Amino acid sequence: MSEHVRVAIEDNILRLTLARPEKKNALSMAMYSVLGEALTKAETDPQVRAILIAAEGDAFTAGNDLADFAAVASGKLDRKDMTSHLLLNALARADKPVIAAVQGLAVGIGVTLLLHCDLVYVAADARLSTPFVSLGLVPEAASSWLLQARIGYARAYAMMALGESLDGTTAVTLGIANAAVPASEVRARALAAAQQVVARPIGALQATKRLMRDSEAIRAVMEREGEVFAARLRTAEAAEALRAFAERRAPNFRGIVG
Ligand code: COA
Repeated sequence: MSEHVRVAIEDNILRLTLARPEKKNALSMAMYSVLGEALTKAETDPQVRAILIAAEGDAFTAGNDLADFAAVASGKLDRKDMTSHLLLNALARADKPVIAAVQGLAVGIGVTLLLHCDLVYVAADARLSTPFVSLGLVPEAASSWLLQARIGYARAYAMMALGESLDGTTAVTLGIANAAVPASEVRARALAAAQQVVARPIGALQATKRLMRDSEAIRAVMEREGEVFAARLRTAEAAEALRAFAERRAPNFRGIVG
């Protein structure tokens, strides 16, 4: 269990709330496990007719806990023992509607998980970024395909390669999110959508989602990305990026080849 994720079922909605605001809701291994398990259980729990992912504090999530990446990079932790795949596989498999409320910063997996949600509400001033390359890494969560399919190659490449971010309003224009609202209203807006969804016929919703998303193809992309990601974590580039984050300085990649 993790005290950093709240899990509750209310009115047929599984509510998953990231609750680590002092670390900008960075996702630890324990948090991934809780999220993955709750999502997996929800698929067979007749009480659950929709899933709502939200976050406490001023940020949605700063992405993967960089201390865990650093532990893999230094060999202290085996990549196989990381648990992000529990969340990602559960999201890729989920047939039930998944709704997200995003305020403030959404970084890395905080953006790529939105590509697996069915209804996304963002704060107009939210900032979405996918700085995998900035960390010497590669995209995950099938985002190497899903992001460009959603927003086009040119924009997706600029987000990945240059670390360009999107605000909430632009995320709506580009089709990553359904609506942008003031930050103070985003969780209520997403909850209202979840309440609307639970009154809909769940069998038809699940069958529709299965037709609209190729879960098997998504998981195959995730697996391929995972292999490259694991290898990248052990490179000098990732080591420099993670050291720079810990030392609160800009990384210097110029002297590193490949
Ligand atoms: N992993 C672990 N800790 C993180 C984190 C992450 N991904 N993101 C933020 N934190 C921690 C900070 O280390 C800091 O902890 P401290 O108070 O003990 O020093 C705390 O959260 C607050 O973050 P801080 O950097 O002071 O806030 P900020 O508003 O200046 O900047 C971010 C916020 C998100 C822009 C910045 O923290 C950041 O760039 N984080 C890394 C994001 C990232 O690269 N994620 C992985 C993507 S694949």
